[in-house]
Amino acid sequence: MAEDKTVEDKTAEDKTVRSRLSAYLRRLGRAMLVVVGAMIVGAAVFIVSGIYNVAARSEHWGITNWLLTVVRDRSIAMAAYGTSVPDLTDDLAGLGAEHYRGGCASCHGVPGRGPGPINRNMLPLPPDLAHAYEDYNSKELFWIIYNGLKFTGMPAWSGYRRKDEVWTLVAFLDRLRRTGPDSYIDSEPSRVLPPELEVAGVGTQPLENCVRCHGNAQYPPISDLVPRLTGQSEAYLIRAIKNYSDGTRESGIMEPIAYKMRAEETVALARYYSSLPLTGTRVSKDHAAVARGRRIATEGLPQAGIPACSACHHEANNPQFPKLAGQSATYLSGQLRLWQNGLRDQSAYGAIMAVVANRLNDAQIRDVTAYYASQSPARHHHEPEAPIP
Ligand code: HEC
Ligand code: HEC
Ligand code: HEC
Repeated sequence: MAEDKTVEDKTAEDKTVRSRLSAYLRRLGRAMLVVVGAMIVGAAVFIVSGIYNVAARSEHWGITNWLLTVVRDRSIAMAAYGTSVPDLTDDLAGLGAEHYRGGCASCHGVPGRGPGPINRNMLPLPPDLAHAYEDYNSKELFWIIYNGLKFTGMPAWSGYRRKDEVWTLVAFLDRLRRTGPDSYIDSEPSRVLPPELEVAGVGTQPLENCVRCHGNAQYPPISDLVPRLTGQSEAYLIRAIKNYSDGTRESGIMEPIAYKMRAEETVALARYYSSLPLTGTRVSKDHAAVARGRRIATEGLPQAGIPACSACHHEANNPQFPKLAGQSATYLSGQLRLWQNGLRDQSAYGAIMAVVANRLNDAQIRDVTAYYASQSPARHHHEPEAPIP
């Protein structure tokens, strides 16, 4: 029976060990409570006392800086992972550079020179974006520009669903990296303007702002992503600008511009552009696509429920239906994709077009936009069609 005794002894021993352990844990728990309590009181005293200097003039502590940087860069790297990067073309970069002038330079300054005298005193400092690629890759830059950065003053993209536009700025930063900061011309491109807008009483400055992206009769748009405004009806141009300023047409590039426009400016600029001759046609080499596109445009595809585009989009029709001839295929197809992604249908006219756009497949979009891009906008619909070389 010696074995039984040993078992009893062991159970007794176990019990004492367990009770000692739990007494120890209780003491430890109390000690921790005291420590945590002291920390909370300490933090409260620190916060309420006003010891921490929030002046932008005084740098963060080394530890604060380190912590903020690690948290920021880990967060960006995690969130940006898996984004797919499109071709960063010159067409994207050209528009990105113009948006940079109006939307980013106010904080980030002239590339290569860093932020200007006012923004040099921000904390954190808006960095010189000529060096952006030294810290981040394309995916991360896209993420930063679209989402902004909390607690820094770096704003999120103003067109909430227009992620497509953000790539223009990534492409601009990529071009800056490849060609150096001197490739960014400080002053706006000197496009000589006629004095029409002086006559309209709003000065030439607002128009200069439009011409640097949209061009006019003399200059083509800066990029195929930017529509021509020449020859478009005054009523359509005014409504488009109103749609941007009241948010029914989303664009992180045009909304900030439309927001600033005064009513008389809008009317004067719309009148100016609608008075100009329609210009600009690109010859398409894909004759077969243009021929298929012509059929969609002039006859529609009844079996697919697609009406003839020309039923609405022609000279003599409702001035609220924009002209398409001579507009770049890139712009036209980009807008059709917006409708397909549920954008641009917030206005009553946008809703009409949404029905048509949603019935087009990718090949039909390619064909019909190739057709309109190759059409001479000056030609009236009753004149014979220009031969396609
Ligand atoms: C109101 C001021 C402000 C505006 C406007 C602004 N930014 Fe910034 N941006 C900042 C600040 C401040 C930082 C620094 C954030 C930090 O240090 O964490 C920053 C950081 C960035 C960064 C990270 C770069 C790096 O190397 O750390 C990029 C990229 C960037 N901005 C792009 C843009 C673009 C593109 C625009 C225009 C669409 C823009 N920003 C408009 C203030 C601004
Ligand atoms: C930074 C370049 C830029 C500047 C500057 C600019 N625009 Fe635009 N604009 C664009 C882009 C890009 C679009 C296409 C946006 C979209 O996807 O809806 C556009 C679209 C438009 C449209 C719609 C045209 C259509 O066919 O539907 C009008 C109207 C317009 N802009 C007027 C103006 C006026 C007026 C000014 C000058 C006060 C101006 N824009 C300045 C880039 C610019
Ligand atoms: C029932 C009339 C109607 C038909 C048919 C129609 N559209 Fe439209 N379309 C409109 C209206 C209205 C707008 C202006 C929408 C707005 O203001 O947002 C428009 C705008 C557009 C735009 C944007 C142009 C710009 O400058 O931003 C494109 C591109 C377009 N249509 C392509 C087509 C194509 C391609 C077809 C034929 C497959 C077609 N449309 C058939 C009514 C029509």
